Amino acid sequence: MSIIIVIILIMFITFPDFRKNWISSYQWIEKELGNDLLGKVVASLAATTIAPVLTIISSIQNQLVNKQEVSEPTSQERYDSFVNWFNAVLSVDLNSDEDLKSILAGWNWFNNGLVLHFKYRPKENELSDIAERLQSYNMNFGWAFRNLGELYLHNFGTTSNWSVPVLFIDKIVENEASRVAELARVEREKELESLPISLLNRNSETLREQTKGKYPLWANRKGNHQLIDFKSHIVLVGSTGAGKTGTLAYWLWLINSLKNEVDELYILDYKRGKDWASFYGISSHYASAEDTKILWEKLYQQFKSYQTGVENIGDKVVYIIIDELASLVESYTTKKERDEFLRQFKDMLRLSRSLGTGKGGYRLIVGLQQADSSYFGGTEGRGNLSIRVALGGNIAEGARMIFEITDESDKPESSPVGKGFAQVYGQPVQRIMIPYVKDREQVMEAIARSMDNAEAIPDD
Ligand SMILES: Nc1ncnc2c1ncn2[C@@H]1O[C@H](COP(=O)(O)OP(=O)(O)O)[C@@H](O)[C@H]1O
Ligand SMILES: [Mg+2]
Repeated sequence: MSIIIVIILIMFITFPDFRKNWISSYQWIEKELGNDLLGKVVASLAATTIAPVLTIISSIQNQLVNKQEVSEPTSQERYDSFVNWFNAVLSVDLNSDEDLKSILAGWNWFNNGLVLHFKYRPKENELSDIAERLQSYNMNFGWAFRNLGELYLHNFGTTSNWSVPVLFIDKIVENEASRVAELARVEREKELESLPISLLNRNSETLREQTKGKYPLWANRKGNHQLIDFKSHIVLVGSTGAGKTGTLAYWLWLINSLKNEVDELYILDYKRGKDWASFYGISSHYASAEDTKILWEKLYQQFKSYQTGVENIGDKVVYIIIDELASLVESYTTKKERDEFLRQFKDMLRLSRSLGTGKGGYRLIVGLQQADSSYFGGTEGRGNLSIRVALGGNIAEGARMIFEITDESDKPESSPVGKGFAQVYGQPVQRIMIPYVKDREQVMEAIARSMDNAEAIPDD
């Protein structure tokens, strides 16, 4: 019993929390029981039982609360602690190690780095001893020794001094950077390989309902279709094999499915690519080789009569797909002819988007390898193509010509076939992929047939 009293007394004296809890328990019980001797005795016994429990509970609570308040030190705080710690370790070493004392004159921290000063020019092996010594320090606060820099000589007043910078590395920042890079890589690899057009099985009616007047011209790299307000001309660039013709085929299918009855659709294919074989000879809406120039001439005259008000375009939209524009431009052999084509082309780019008083107008869709402004009659001609797409590898150079790369933009980089970047004027550049028409031949044939029945500009 007396031992218990002695223990309680010691706790009472040494632990202020215990003392506080004992007194408050005692006062509370005494008040409940009455102020006589029995009350006092029972209260002290009860308080002696209760106070340790209260003290333990409150100390656990304190620990929990304290734990929540601990926050990550900032990078600067870690650096400052590291510097203090490092100074202490090196000072102890310097005082106790004669070898070190004979060579090391002192050290400085500046520009967030350490420089060691030597009493003479240290030899190679002395330097590597120093490096080994630093390597052996069990570095703290997230920092680690990386290397010694270049030894250099400087003159401070009378004494010559040799110094070497010490390179440390912030492991926490480095780990964080590689973690972020790894996350970005994993995110990129989640990208779809290719996106077959699932829309293909749907009829125009369903497609129309889903797209609500917009065009799913492309998808993001996860395969989600993006609905684009298709109210302007499009330029599509990419080197050979990037997927330009495949893209034009997909857009052709889209336009053919979504356009209105009155709308018209033309394909200019100077190179006579085999992908357009379904159209050879059967459609007045398609032209290749030298015929391309004849169809162009008709289209331009039609545009002029709408633009000058001779005819009323009404709500009709005229879509003109030009595959490999450069070969068409270069097919005009004399400068005079070429300049005339470029003048007409630029004229149409500038003035055709919206004509008359209705919803009518032109949409030029131009595919070529490099959007050199000389193919558009100058940069302001090119500027009229407000939807821009670059596909495939080696697009860095081409991307500079067509994109305005803002801070929010995805940065264009080489991409696999059918993938690339797109920008709708005034919006950031985005990583995209083009839905892939797998049964291209079948699809093209069906479109060719339906276009053959459609009305075209009458032959003279
Ligand atoms: N969107 C796409 N997704 C996957 N593969 C494609 C896509 N577009 C085209 N391809 C494949 O790449 C090849 C080259 O494409 P193509 O459109 O002819 O390129 P370009 O016209 O730029 O030279 C095609 O034969 C086709 O198999
Ligand atoms: Mg092509």
